[in-house]
Amino acid sequence: MQFTKLFILTFFVVFTAKPLLAHQSECQEQLNSNFNRPCLERLIPRSLDPLNRNMMQPSVVKVSNQYSVSGSLTEDNQPLIVVIGASGRTGRFVLESLAKRDLRIRALSRNIAKASADIGGNYEWVYADVTQPETLVMALQDSDIIISTIGAKPGKGPDGPESVVYKGVINLVDEAKRAGTRHIIYMSSIGAGGAENFSTVFLNLFMNKTLKWKSLGEEYIRNSGIDFTIVRPGGLYGDPGTQGIKFDQGDKIIGSIPRGDVASVLVESVYNPDAINKTFEVINDESLPVDAWKDEFKNLKTGEYGKIQSGRLPFSYWGSMLILVLLIVLLIRRRRRRKRAA
Ligand SMILES: NC(=O)c1ccc[n+]([C@@H]2O[C@H](COP(=O)([O-])OP(=O)(O)OC[C@H]3O[C@@H](n4cnc5c(N)ncnc54)[C@H](OP(=O)(O)O)[C@@H]3O)[C@@H](O)[C@H]2O)c1
Repeated sequence: MQFTKLFILTFFVVFTAKPLLAHQSECQEQLNSNFNRPCLERLIPRSLDPLNRNMMQPSVVKVSNQYSVSGSLTEDNQPLIVVIGASGRTGRFVLESLAKRDLRIRALSRNIAKASADIGGNYEWVYADVTQPETLVMALQDSDIIISTIGAKPGKGPDGPESVVYKGVINLVDEAKRAGTRHIIYMSSIGAGGAENFSTVFLNLFMNKTLKWKSLGEEYIRNSGIDFTIVRPGGLYGDPGTQGIKFDQGDKIIGSIPRGDVASVLVESVYNPDAINKTFEVINDESLPVDAWKDEFKNLKTGEYGKIQSGRLPFSYWGSMLILVLLIVLLIRRRRRRKRAA
């Protein structure tokens, strides 16, 4: 019986201690000396303090529907759209959709031979790796708009979420500033706005805090001074999109959406001035008319993004586990007392 109790206690301590203490160790790893700031905030680079928000004043030049419809853009003033993550499962839908609109497109990949062979088409492929900032100089040169559909692999190391969607996004934004990029359209994920649903908690606990790093990457984009649109899709599946799409803010919904539909929202954000400086979630909703979402951008609020995802095991989870363990221990003790009495 002693062994059962010991086992339950050990399980509980091991399961909860790592996620609860995780930030502290990450902060120590960062060797950041601003110890008067809470640990999670210290992971947001110093330059992102609210006081420094306007480090850059972008000249707001949008691609408007008028231009594309009237065809009045010349080769010289046609904006250059750079797609990073272009070889990915969403990125290729983005390329396809942009190609129909006759824009200047540059597609980025870490393996341009494979990407261009896989995807075909007549795209300008340029090497870029967000974990190696020097590769972004050429890749982002003259870019007007960046659409990012990059994604990390689970695990630590150069392909992991911390390297790709946190430090990599910081590199991307810093180089975009140098290049004079006017608008970053970034594919993130539901759960990056502080949601505590099961899949978010699972991804944070067992996939190296994927959503925490995404959340911090998003925050860097929001505070960059460059116009941004952050699109957070629910669970992705492969089909081209043809469905109604629901928009929401504050990371309160869960659901799924075809990658093709996410690509449509990303590309529409190039043209729709109401997409500027918005962070929002997108899921499929079959009850909605197919194209109704295009009018939803204007109903989105700026400054509404939920909260920074901490990556810790939420109180509601470890609190209920604690109660469960206490109940089990109480039950065991009651049974023992009854046995002794009998
Ligand atoms: N799976 C889901 O249910 C789900 C739900 C919501 C959001 N998301 C997120 O949506 C995003 C796109 O998902 P997806 O399935 O379309 O992605 P994907 O097919 O896995 O493609 C990922 C892309 O990221 C690029 N990439 C990875 N590391 C890079 C690096 N260091 N530098 C530059 N590019 C890099 C890859 O390009 P190269 O290898 O060619 O360089 C690849 O094109 C991801 O961030 C994903 O986490 C996923």
